[in-house]
Amino acid sequence: MDLSHISSALGIVHSLCIERGKNAEVWDEEGRRYIDFVGGIGVLNLGHGHPAVVEAVQRQVETLMHSAFNAIPHRGYLEVAKALDAFVPVSYPLSCMLTNSGAEATENALKVARAATGRQGVIAFDDGFHGRTLAALNLNGKVKPYKNGLGALPGPVYHLPFPSRDSDIDADQAMAALERLFEVETPIDEVACIIVEPVQGEGGFRLLCADFAARLRCLCDRHGIVLIFDEIQSGFGRSGRRFAFSHLGVEPDLTLMGKSMAAGLPLAALAGRRELMDAIVKGGLGGTYSGNAVACAAARVVMDVMSESNLREWGDRQESLIADAHRRWQASRRFPMVGKLTGIGAMRGIVFEDTATATGSEHLMALLSAARDAGVLLMPSGRRRNVLRLLPPLTTEPDILNEGLNCIEQALETL
Ligand SMILES: Cc1ncc(COP(=O)(O)O)c(C=O)c1O
Repeated sequence: MDLSHISSALGIVHSLCIERGKNAEVWDEEGRRYIDFVGGIGVLNLGHGHPAVVEAVQRQVETLMHSAFNAIPHRGYLEVAKALDAFVPVSYPLSCMLTNSGAEATENALKVARAATGRQGVIAFDDGFHGRTLAALNLNGKVKPYKNGLGALPGPVYHLPFPSRDSDIDADQAMAALERLFEVETPIDEVACIIVEPVQGEGGFRLLCADFAARLRCLCDRHGIVLIFDEIQSGFGRSGRRFAFSHLGVEPDLTLMGKSMAAGLPLAALAGRRELMDAIVKGGLGGTYSGNAVACAAARVVMDVMSESNLREWGDRQESLIADAHRRWQASRRFPMVGKLTGIGAMRGIVFEDTATATGSEHLMALLSAARDAGVLLMPSGRRRNVLRLLPPLTTEPDILNEGLNCIEQALETL
């Protein structure tokens, strides 16, 4: 593959060129078939080329490709906004803006929180990920590769340890860090917002501790801080619910969505309480392409399909096949590098441990390559790049899912 005209800063995981895809299968330019457990990094919860999405997109292309909503509204944007109000399980009426990417949704959430509170401070979490644009990347709880060599970044931003049954941090430890923050780093009344992923994606598929989420909600209510849940990777069915915050029993003030929202077309959203979303002056939100008509047509279908489907059943089915394979690999004792299973529903990670022969990250990198040779495409995550994240479409046929898991087992044998 000739990458001579591509910036080397794009860290390409698999050196092959995909030509076509169907649900959980893809074919490269040489005609080789792979099972796709990357899913466009969580974009393809409904798989490659879902027939209802394809039909809606084709119809839309023939009718209206684009209108800049800020200038001249179009029906697709209005319908997506209305559909989101029904689809996102919060207790208040939802007001939204559509964006092109998750990072753009994050940026706009920061603007809304600043305008609504008149404050600037942001609290984010170790190992969190919210995008690669300048303000968003400063929220990421990881320096390399996001912050190196970029100088001063928009702040102030403070990071807390992420409490999870999947990490070594519990709710009390995270609360203690929060208390320290307000004693040592910043007055609480200078904090505009707290941003957190209900299940960390890039950070290694780790579920936020529900008890801590409840405490964050109380703190935000008491001190007028905006609570933002980033559901860009965990939303649209991945966790076995429409949004992962349903597992926490806590609702956010603002929700970030993206990735699987439009089944592969570039669309994301910032949605939340009207009084917050209206805090910015007219003209302060928007964008030329954001809420593109074709992407909106796809998003409408995604929400229809997901509303009519049993997401819990999809999540349970995938969870049980992955958990069975993981149990088998651990029980066999042949793969000492295979550590614990993280995450929830169909948002599952497998930690790769250090052994006498290699670090967990080295094992995982070797696995990625061997698994590709065996016929399945995989993606790493985690601060140390030692967590395998599994993102097959939720619609993956059980046979194909098992075939992909068997390819992983075959690859494990080679480590
Ligand atoms: C939780 C989360 N937030 C934000 C983003 C950024 O989204 P995008 O790549 O669409 O800008 C991502 C992307 O991986 C993500 O996983």
